[in-house]
Amino acid sequence: MDPYTNPDSQTDRTQQAMITRLEERGQHAFFQKMIDDYIDSIPSDQPLRALDLGCGTGVVARRLANALHSDSEIHGADISDVLLAKGRRQDLAQGIHWDHIQPGALPYEERSFDVIVMHTLLSHVPNPLSLLQETARVLAPTGQLIVFDADHAGTTYGQESYEAMRRVDHLLTSAVATHPDLCRQMPRYLKAAGLSLNSHRSVILSECGRGDYWLSSVRGFAGILPALNVLSEEEGQQWVDAMHASHDNDTFFASGAFFTFYASHS
Ligand SMILES: C[S@@+](CC[C@H](N)C(=O)[O-])C[C@H]1O[C@@H](n2cnc3c(N)ncnc32)[C@H](O)[C@@H]1O
Repeated sequence: MDPYTNPDSQTDRTQQAMITRLEERGQHAFFQKMIDDYIDSIPSDQPLRALDLGCGTGVVARRLANALHSDSEIHGADISDVLLAKGRRQDLAQGIHWDHIQPGALPYEERSFDVIVMHTLLSHVPNPLSLLQETARVLAPTGQLIVFDADHAGTTYGQESYEAMRRVDHLLTSAVATHPDLCRQMPRYLKAAGLSLNSHRSVILSECGRGDYWLSSVRGFAGILPALNVLSEEEGQQWVDAMHASHDNDTFFASGAFFTFYASHS
């Protein structure tokens, strides 16, 4: 159900909606700040080999290229040709390597990356532990793994009826992520992959009265609702309309948490 597990098999309309959503949220000040918060923890005084795994259209790869030492080697890797094609077009001579990869095995040498970032990737992967184990293989002995994801299981969009809210929240957030509880499993996954969890950071984003980031996510949902296949077209449209109406009359409510996990070899 989760369209991000295989973007290239989606309809043109869904792919366009995904591209628009990834780029739109990547330009949102709140989202950029969360990215900068972890990129600021990466040393920029020496060239590094860095991988943005599950890079999509390249939002994080481009920020890494801007922030890290200019002699760094930046790779953006993804299973989707369609999303990578957008990244390549936006490359604008930043020298990023755009790697089309197959799910599962990573086409890189052992212990070859100083930094690996997974930005809202793992919650979409069918087997997060196996990808983490493969990631541990290509992470340098002193390298840093940064996993950023939304706690989809806790994301909520307020509605007048509690029952309707619980139902739609559950259907939508479960359908948009293969593992809505990914963040809650991360300490277990990292341990099982033989990695050490060094620290974590969490941010709660709530909007009351008027919507901004979360209202833009409603617009994102609107484009991929048919692909999610969990609400009828009519029910989906009603939800989108209700969210916009609550914004227009100052009764909007939405809230959700984001986590960043910093890990390395033990
Ligand atoms: C929600 S998008 C995030 C894209 C990008 N990191 C961003 O935040 O803008 C999830 C991405 O993971 C990619 N993906 C899914 N499964 C993958 C896998 N096994 N290996 C690498 N990328 C994968 C999808 O193609 C998609 O680009």
